[in-house]
Formats: sequence, structure tokens, C-alpha cells
Amino acid sequence: MVHEISIQLDRTPLDVAKYPVGIDSQVQVLRKILNLQYEDKVMVGLWGKGGVGKTTLAKAIYNAVFREFQGSSFLERVRENSSDLVRLQKKLLSEVLLGKKLAIYNVSGGSRLIQDRLCNKKVLIILDDVDDKCQLNALARCYEWFGKGSRIIFTTRNRHLLTSHGVDWNHMHEVKALENGEALELFRKHAFLGNKKIEIRSNLVDGVVHYAKGLPLALEVLGSFLCGRGEEEWESTLQKLAKSPYKEIDDVLKVSFDGLENEEKEIFLDIACFFKGQGTKHITKVLESCDFAVIIGVKILIERSLISEEKGTLQMHDLIQLMGMNIVKEECRDNPGKRSRLWLWDDFLHILSGNAVRLVNV
Ligand SMILES: Nc1ncnc2c1ncn2[C@@H]1O[C@H](COP(=O)(O)OP(=O)(O)O)[C@@H](O)[C@H]1O
Ligand SMILES: [Mg+2]
Repeated sequence: MVHEISIQLDRTPLDVAKYPVGIDSQVQVLRKILNLQYEDKVMVGLWGKGGVGKTTLAKAIYNAVFREFQGSSFLERVRENSSDLVRLQKKLLSEVLLGKKLAIYNVSGGSRLIQDRLCNKKVLIILDDVDDKCQLNALARCYEWFGKGSRIIFTTRNRHLLTSHGVDWNHMHEVKALENGEALELFRKHAFLGNKKIEIRSNLVDGVVHYAKGLPLALEVLGSFLCGRGEEEWESTLQKLAKSPYKEIDDVLKVSFDGLENEEKEIFLDIACFFKGQGTKHITKVLESCDFAVIIGVKILIERSLISEEKGTLQMHDLIQLMGMNIVKEECRDNPGKRSRLWLWDDFLHILSGNAVRLVNV
């Protein structure tokens, strides 16, 4: 009994979103799908495009129900971390078993251990952003791994992955872009920070919101970018958005990058290419050695919603990171050696091999 209580106390809710909009109604819909009264096990899939709010909704449902389980784990960014599945297996077990560290030497050993330890426990497991069957196989292969009443939730951009893992169609939920009213609400929260005195012509506000196509990520970045700016700047932003050829999310996000000062751009690109997910203190120290005013730079990037600080690390949405990496690639599409940054091993080898040839020639 005492042990159970301490388990409940040790588990803490997750930070959902800076200004949540429309989440409660989505949580209600998901609750129905999860059907917590049902005693058997259920796997549920949330799918939708990047930046639409899958991770956010998954965190909200986690917070709403995790206390009803004996153990729970929310594994964020599975795709990005999938080069080390053993580490993810360790994290899953240590979260469910509250800090107990178990030795795992390989993925199949890890799978066995998860099944062994969790098959009699009622658990809530959320695997966020999965994109490959081997991640599912390593972390939540089948119902037999978990105890009665367990709920396993996946989020993904690939609906087919859910089908192929045996998630029924009536346990799938598409996370859709925000409706007009909610989109406007989220945008205004970021652009005006609740200040009712700011007056920007409504056709300018509606014009900008239109380009975000209801995508929370784009609404957040555009709103944060325009926060504190006058109508003239709103107009020039609209013109810029109207010019971009494809009007993809990348074009929308890039408006915010273009509006940064040079040094902030450098800091942003360094984080996107090298430092995402690392400790804030470490990043600050490394970048300060490049003579950047890092503390203020990082603060501005956070204000613009381009990065966020989570548990002492700097994080960035993968679409924003991709935008940053594309900017560097575009510096010289054909020749990685002429780019300002290299982060792929293959590009690095390509350049080294080029140098070796030159040396031999000398
Ligand atoms: N309903 C919402 N209300 C407020 N902010 C949201 C909402 N949904 C998403 N966001 C914000 O939009 C951004 C992208 O959402 P995220 O959940 O990471 O998208 P996905 O996981 O689908 O790529 C996040 O910064 C998040 O805080
Ligand atoms: Mg996500």
C-alpha cells in the first residue's frame, strides 16, 4: 500500500503546451477510444502530419489518465532516438518501474525484459513519433507483453504503420489541423500575449493566419515572430508569405528565421545542425567560445518559438530543425565542402576523401 502511494506521488504530469487550445475536447474524444473501463488491453494510434499537434495531444491524454495505471512511460521522439533502441528500452522500463535500472545488452534481451517485467502490470505506454516497425517491435511488440487493462498509444505520421502493427481502425484517431476559430485563438495568444489593447487590423491578422493552414506549429512561430511588431511589419510579412512559391510549412517557418539578426541566425543553425537535445549549459559554453552573445541569442530564439528549453536541454521541433538544415544545404547544394556546417558522416567522408586525393597529388 505504502509502495503504491509512493509510486503515485513520484510520477509527475508532463508540460503540454504554452497556450493550449482545443485540447480538452480532443482529450474527451480520445478517452472514449481508450475506453478505460474495458478490462482487456488496447492499442491506440494517433496520426497526422508534422506540426499538427500529435505529441501535444499525447501528452495531454497522458496527464489525464496516467494515475489510473500501475506504471506509465511517455517516450518522446522515438524516431529521432531510434539509433539506440536499447537506450529507449531502458528508459521505458526505468519510467514504468520508477527509476529501477536494469542491465540490457541488446535489443532482443531488452524486449524479453520488457515482457518479463510488464506482463502482469497494468501500464500506460506512449511511444511518440514512431516511423518504423522495428521501433514498435523493440518497445511494444504485442498485447502479450503487457498486463490486463494496459493501454499503449502510438503517434506517427504514417497511418499504415499502425495498420501493419495490428491497431484496429476504430482505435485510430486522426489529429487534424485547427478549425478557423481555434487557429485564430492560438495565433492571437502568441502574437498578443493576452494584451487586448494592441490593435492590428483584422484583415492583417486573418491574412497571416491563413498561411498557417491551421497548423499549430506554424501559428505559434508566426505569432511569436509578429509579437510586438507594428502594422507595417505585419504588411511586409504578408507580402513575403504571398511571394513564397509553394507556401509549404517550410516557407512559413523561414519568415521567422529571415527576421533574425546575423548572430542569432548562426546560433540557430548551430543548434539545428549540431546541438539539438543537448544540455543548455553545454551548448552555451561551446557557442560562447565562438564569441557569440549566446544567452541573449538563445532567449530570443525561445521567444520566437524556434527552440524551447525542456529539463535543462534545448529542443527544437523536427520541422524547424529540417528548415535549418535545408538552409545550410542550400549554401551549396552540390558540394558539402563549401557549406558552413557538416553534420552527416557521409558528407564529412566525401570531403576527407577529396582532401586525400589532393594530398596524394601534391
Ligand atoms: N492544441 C494546441 N494548442 C496549443 N498549442 C499547440 C496545440 N497543438 C500543438 N501545439 C503546439 O504546436 C507545436 C507543434 O505541436 P506538436 O505536438 O509537436 O506536433 P507534432 O507532434 O504533430 O509534430 C508545439 O510547439 C505545440 O506546443
Ligand atoms: Mg511530435
